[in-house]
Amino acid sequence: TADVKTLIDRYVRDVPDYPQPGVVFKDITPLLAHPAGLATVVDALVEPLQGRGIDLVAGLEARGFIFGAPAAVRLGAGFVPLRKAGKLPAQTLAESYDLEYGTATVEMHADAVTPGSRVLVVDDVLATGGTGRAAVDLIRRAGGTVVEFSVLLELGFLKGRERLADVDLRVLATV
Ligand code: PRP
Ligand code: HPA
Repeated sequence: TADVKTLIDRYVRDVPDYPQPGVVFKDITPLLAHPAGLATVVDALVEPLQGRGIDLVAGLEARGFIFGAPAAVRLGAGFVPLRKAGKLPAQTLAESYDLEYGTATVEMHADAVTPGSRVLVVDDVLATGGTGRAAVDLIRRAGGTVVEFSVLLELGFLKGRERLADVDLRVLATV
């Protein structure tokens, strides 16, 4: 919707040279601090998915948790945390990936997604697509169906969507 785009445009701020020189980091904290920010974003994320049989929302650490958890509440779905390596206590599945700035591993509890589950994956920013690719692969390895991968903001110049050509991608805004 126009509203949510305007909000993202106004309240996501550019931080130059974070976390390393040459990267312009999109900082969502002003959006979160806006009284209508989180509610407007969560409304826009869940609206197209009402009635689509979402069983689980998978949120990517850390900022995907902020949007994914309230989306799960609104959809009457469970929540699955997809975490950085070493944070989950029980048996995990893992996928490694490259970031715009470095490399990382994302993990999911091996029993978090039962085969046939319909899963919405949520994150804040789509950059190179490595994180989203790893998340989708984890859920599919567990036998889940990725109904959609939804993000607030796509950094179009990094072409992350090319790595997610086999996924229904929803972005609320693109820069
Ligand atoms: C950021 C962002 C996405 C990911 C996007 O998280 O929140 O999860 O990178 O990048 P990609 O499309 O190139 O994979 P980050 O790894 O900085 O973790 P954090 O949220 O824990 O700070
Ligand atoms: N902002 C937030 N997360 C990110 C970014 C960014 O600019 N690039 C990669 N992940």
